[in-house]
Amino acid sequence: MNLLKSELEDLEQKGSLLKKNVLSKNEIDRVKEIILNQPGGKGVKKSHYPVNFNNFITKLLKLDFKKIKDGLFLLNIKKRLNLNLISNTIFKDKANLIMIDGYWNSIEKKDILPWHSDQAYGGNKNVEVIKSPNIFYLKFFFYLTNVGPNNGCTSYIPCSHKITYAVRSCIFEKKVNYEPFWSLDDLVKFIKKKENYKHILEKLSSEEELNNFFKKADLISTNPEKSFFDFEASPGDLLIFNDSGVHRGSMPSLNTRIALRYLYKKNSF
Ligand SMILES: [Fe+2]
Repeated sequence: MNLLKSELEDLEQKGSLLKKNVLSKNEIDRVKEIILNQPGGKGVKKSHYPVNFNNFITKLLKLDFKKIKDGLFLLNIKKRLNLNLISNTIFKDKANLIMIDGYWNSIEKKDILPWHSDQAYGGNKNVEVIKSPNIFYLKFFFYLTNVGPNNGCTSYIPCSHKITYAVRSCIFEKKVNYEPFWSLDDLVKFIKKKENYKHILEKLSSEEELNNFFKKADLISTNPEKSFFDFEASPGDLLIFNDSGVHRGSMPSLNTRIALRYLYKKNSF
């Protein structure tokens, strides 16, 4: 898979990019089978697959040949699709694959995860170490089932990665005091605080950039039932996104959602 120059620009500027028909029919069927055959849900160890030599040795020592076979198949997909090269291009440096996981969500009437940024210190109240604002993960999110508005898509607020970068920079440089900003509501409140606003604005290209973000956040909070920033995707489609931007896992209201993720991080962090 090669990304066009315009697609790379889109990914950098907006923070996310949807690519259609990336996996072959055979890959879709096989990956679905792999994920549905493991008992783990999201976040549990069993939903993870080996990504490096040490991981494979560990599986070998445990005689877990199935994980080895499945892991090799998933690594082959990332090789075929040049995910390393795309990541290096986005990070403008060498990037490492640090995680592969696959999981499913059953039908339910609430969001899988509400609007949030992954680079907000996990929403913790007290954070001892403020890490570099440049840290983020690039996620390759493959859909193995149909998703759509309010049905399991990973909604993303365009350009919001630039806003959270400005926030993290100000906290890192001690221009503003840290407070939790994991959720969209907390993030907006944090930026609008009188003592924070000016410093965060200084990190952005214009006040318009910030106002555009507020408008999008306002659309979401005043119309919670509507599906702003949602999209349709089919089995085999891929969403690539910068996880520091504000996103959510919308409710899988119509069908079970099955997803496969590859996570990349800049090598030097
Ligand atoms: Fe997230």
